[in-house]
Amino acid sequence: MGDTMKFDKSRALFERAAKVIPGGIYGSKAPGFLVPGAYPYYLDRAAGCRMWDADGTEFIDYLCGYGSMIVGYGNEAVDKAAVARIRQGDLLDQPSPLMVELAERLVGKIAGTAWSVFVKNGTDATTLALSLSRVRTGKPLAILASEAYHGAANWCSANVFPELESERRDIRRFKYNDIEGLEALFRENKGRIACLFLTPYHHPTFAPQEEPDPRLYETARRLCDSEGALLVMDDIRANFRLHEAGSHVRFGARPDLWCMGKALANGYPISVLMGTEELRAVASSFFITGTYWMSAGPMAAALASLDEMERLGGVARLEVLGAAFKEGIEAAGRKVGFGARVTGPAGIPFITFDEDPDLWLNQRFGSAMARRGVFIHPHHNGFISLAHGEDDIALTVERAEAAFAAMAAGRE
Ligand SMILES: Cc1ncc(COP(=O)(O)O)c(C=O)c1O
Repeated sequence: MGDTMKFDKSRALFERAAKVIPGGIYGSKAPGFLVPGAYPYYLDRAAGCRMWDADGTEFIDYLCGYGSMIVGYGNEAVDKAAVARIRQGDLLDQPSPLMVELAERLVGKIAGTAWSVFVKNGTDATTLALSLSRVRTGKPLAILASEAYHGAANWCSANVFPELESERRDIRRFKYNDIEGLEALFRENKGRIACLFLTPYHHPTFAPQEEPDPRLYETARRLCDSEGALLVMDDIRANFRLHEAGSHVRFGARPDLWCMGKALANGYPISVLMGTEELRAVASSFFITGTYWMSAGPMAAALASLDEMERLGGVARLEVLGAAFKEGIEAAGRKVGFGARVTGPAGIPFITFDEDPDLWLNQRFGSAMARRGVFIHPHHNGFISLAHGEDDIALTVERAEAAFAAMAAGRE
């Protein structure tokens, strides 16, 4: 299979792109963020859990549009609802009735929430959460975990240019799960902390994923309460893959604000900031707007996607599929001496190698899998969807066995 893979069209497109788009492809989709020459640059179509690149090569996908696809590419119910709504009227002068329906549905579903504000990107939601926290508390600082990703705005992104330093001035970081370190940070900055951002569990891009320490959330709540700071749950990456009522429920966390996006609408552009009753007043006082934020098509997609998640078995089904993936990949590695380890919740697996914390083996394995028609990101956690089946996982494990065997023999 590896021998037949071609990138002629991908390369030709990239050459054209380099002339008219900075870097050709920017950000996390840039060729350098994968392994140049081993992964396609452009994808052309997708169905279920499969996708085809610009040169026609088929892949079983374990990135799922960076987590956005949860009920299958081209899911008929979701696309039908979205297309019908777009034909009826998508971006209008005022919101459509669907906005009320979706807000009611989410407030009824996500435990502890009282209101929803719809935005486009996750970054819109996290940045709004930061602003609301500062206004509500009258304090400047936000505490984040090291290596935690909260979006592409300069207060939290990888753009650590000295010229942008002023935008990060009020951000402090602690090592995830270092309870004493977190307590010390709150002590040192007493009276100046607006909020603590946490992802439901730790999913750094270049390291194994970590479950929260059993003391983390009670400590976070206690520290926030005594400081008068807000606890923000950034559930953008994990939402609907850990718990139907919000990932915080799985860990007994009690946030004040919630950020969700990605899997909310199976890939249609919509994210949401949600909050408690106590924060309704500050949210109402804010001028919140964006030209596209109230478009109706993605709201129809979100409502249909929430139905589809339930119909297809939801989190319980992802647990079954993820367990098979983990068991199969780890066993395939062990068979020929690789310490492959799959970390994280079942629906959000990340493969690392015990013997290689620098991720070179990830690059070799990811490339060997891409050559065999399986798209597994080399540095980023993966995602399993409700469109994957046991047969897809079994085929993936079969290909992993072949990839590991070729690696062990020094052929790849
Ligand atoms: C945990 C988390 N927060 C925030 C974001 C930012 O979301 P977006 O890329 O939609 O702006 C992401 C995106 O990957 C994320 O994983």
